[in-house]
Amino acid sequence: MHKDVEKILINETELQEIVQNIAEKINSDLNGEPLLVVIILKGSTPFAMDLIKKLTMPVEIDFMQVSSYGKSTASSGFINLKKDIEQDITGKNVLIVEDIIDSGNTLNKIKKLFEHRQAKSVKICALLDKPSRRVVDVDVDYSGTEIPDEFVIGYGLDYAEQYRNLPYVGVLKKSVYEKVVD
Ligand code: PRP
Repeated sequence: MHKDVEKILINETELQEIVQNIAEKINSDLNGEPLLVVIILKGSTPFAMDLIKKLTMPVEIDFMQVSSYGKSTASSGFINLKKDIEQDITGKNVLIVEDIIDSGNTLNKIKKLFEHRQAKSVKICALLDKPSRRVVDVDVDYSGTEIPDEFVIGYGLDYAEQYRNLPYVGVLKKSVYEKVVD
């Protein structure tokens, strides 16, 4: 285990089981219809790469990157589109893939944007859900697992851009982010 990790919350085997369960539901729901998977950078990439390998319908992928203003005051609810997808989604089945839902602001805004662009369907898939932090309602179609309000890292999730490469989801030691500033 990495020295900065307090405890492992979801190990590699458990992650793969969660991904498999989500993929089976998506495969069943789509019933062979083509799917555009929109991966929200950066944290979702390890999850999305594992997920798409388990999907059985014709799949396209695209990427979007957003940043929220005033992350610490999540209720502000504004997001900044840093990178948009590259294609017209009119009439397409879209699956938005996220690593974590916190306030819900990011997914709420992206879903509305895609509906406005007249996708055939817009569904949301999130590996981790922190319901205790929710500020706006979001209908999550495929949810991996709920987690407590702890600082989680690994399997794509970062603290100051570090730890995304850990193969498990762990809780970051408080001493790492509560360092006294001189
Ligand atoms: C995280 C996560 C979601 C968002 C969730 O991204 O991947 O996009 O925050 O928070 P919300 O529900 O409060 O909107 P982050 O901004 O940390 O970017 P990253 O994936 O590049 O690390």
